Amino acid sequence: MSNKNSDDSSMIDSSFLPACEVPTEDLEVGPFTMLIFGGTGDLSQRKLLPTLYHLFRKEGILTDFSIIGLGRREMSDEEYRNYIRHALDTFTPESVDDKSYEEFSRHLFYLPTRFEDDHESLCKRISKIGGLLEKNNLLYYLAVAPAVVNNIIEKLGQYNMCKGEYKAKIIIEKPFGCDRASAFQLNQFILKYFDENQIYRIDHYLGKDTVQNMIFFRFGNSIFEPLWNRRYVDHIQISVAEDIGVGHRGVFYEQAGVVRDIVQNHIMQLIALVAMEPPVGFEANLIRDEKIKVFKTIRPMDAEYIYQSTIRGQYGPGKTNGEPALAYREEENVSHVSNTPTFFAAKLYVDNWRWAGVPFYIRTGKRLLKRSTEIFIQFKQPPLRLLGRVCDVLTPNALIFSIQPDEEISLQLSVKYPGMHNRSHVVNMNFNYEKTFNFKMHLAYERLLIDAIKGDLTLFARQDGIEAMWSVVDPIISRWESIPAKDFPNYAAGSWGPEAAAELMQKDGRKWREL
Ligand code: BG6
Repeated sequence: MSNKNSDDSSMIDSSFLPACEVPTEDLEVGPFTMLIFGGTGDLSQRKLLPTLYHLFRKEGILTDFSIIGLGRREMSDEEYRNYIRHALDTFTPESVDDKSYEEFSRHLFYLPTRFEDDHESLCKRISKIGGLLEKNNLLYYLAVAPAVVNNIIEKLGQYNMCKGEYKAKIIIEKPFGCDRASAFQLNQFILKYFDENQIYRIDHYLGKDTVQNMIFFRFGNSIFEPLWNRRYVDHIQISVAEDIGVGHRGVFYEQAGVVRDIVQNHIMQLIALVAMEPPVGFEANLIRDEKIKVFKTIRPMDAEYIYQSTIRGQYGPGKTNGEPALAYREEENVSHVSNTPTFFAAKLYVDNWRWAGVPFYIRTGKRLLKRSTEIFIQFKQPPLRLLGRVCDVLTPNALIFSIQPDEEISLQLSVKYPGMHNRSHVVNMNFNYEKTFNFKMHLAYERLLIDAIKGDLTLFARQDGIEAMWSVVDPIISRWESIPAKDFPNYAAGSWGPEAAAELMQKDGRKWREL
């Protein structure tokens, strides 16, 4: 048991769970060809190619495959291989091994193309690679700006590269549309060319083990289910705090803002996993059905609700991790009078039988004091202040699912402090993934790419789910866009966001958990 709050942590053994080795799973996937549209872009360099290389290195997982990067700049295959090698050296924490990279890079190809209008050369290139094209498992990864998505899909359709012979899968990055109406149109458009079961709408949060573990934890343990409702839960807090700013993504972020970037997808998915009913089975559609019911029961927000229960913020200059940090409005490609929010907090209600009256407080922001993502479930106080007559007010029980920086679960309990006095003391029973399983947590993209290659849609969003998530946030976005904030910037980089976020909790006699 570890004891984060104790002033004498040496008394408590932090290793009561024996470490166990994770057996190597049989993850080997069959032959596939992946075409990455945007093969030289940020996502490819930072996440996709590093993940694919990592999977290749884990012996036996990827064997028979080709990856074709597509991009506008002119490059030969060899130059692309060097370009990706440089990206791996720059962005992966593990060192790249020359021999394994050399073997990996033999599977790597490049096609310079203005992909939205040049599918003829794409087809030629594919047939030139010839035998390497695995028509039975062809994946298109669209790691491109939303503006070119339709064009690419239309051309793939024109060249009969979607259904029929190719049976391709298409993986699409968020944001999926910019509101419910555009997401609906985009879906309708894609469905002209692909069937729903060929479409993989990716949200990398769903690839994180602790996020998936919500389902295992909730439905694999009998002791929590009776407590998982309005009778025992006081409130829930979901925090996605980042210490980074928008970096080089100013153009994207100016159009997106925090609600489209994080709330509509990552936070909505976390709410769904906490709040959903047990699915009738573990298949993709059954789980997705339950999640959608949650989105549909989130209380709709009118202007008054938005005014009372949502907070927006934008960072000004400050310091993060000891370094001076620019204001959002001074970042690259950001307007000096930008109205784009970089912080969001709100109180939501899931108006169903289980959760009626239980507030879900959510907050997220860039340039906050530290990087931390967690779900905090606070239970109600015991019915009687029995101990409170002689002790301090008890700290209520809480379950904490920490997703970042460490993946762990803690249960907050009160115990008697040793000694002669009747003193209650808070301790945490703690389970840490890496320590318990003696296992380096994998990148969220690893699981998702493997699932897509294998054809498992469970961790990907379905069309109606995407639209339902937009329906929750659309009123907030349009209200905020119609009334520009007068007080931006309203929090310093390196703080915990605007004062108003703390006040939102104080009004209810609660406070944000210290991350
Ligand atoms: C992405 C957002 O989806 O998630 C980024 O576009 C954000 O703005 C990132 O930084 C956070 O992901 P993670 O896994 O680091 O929490």
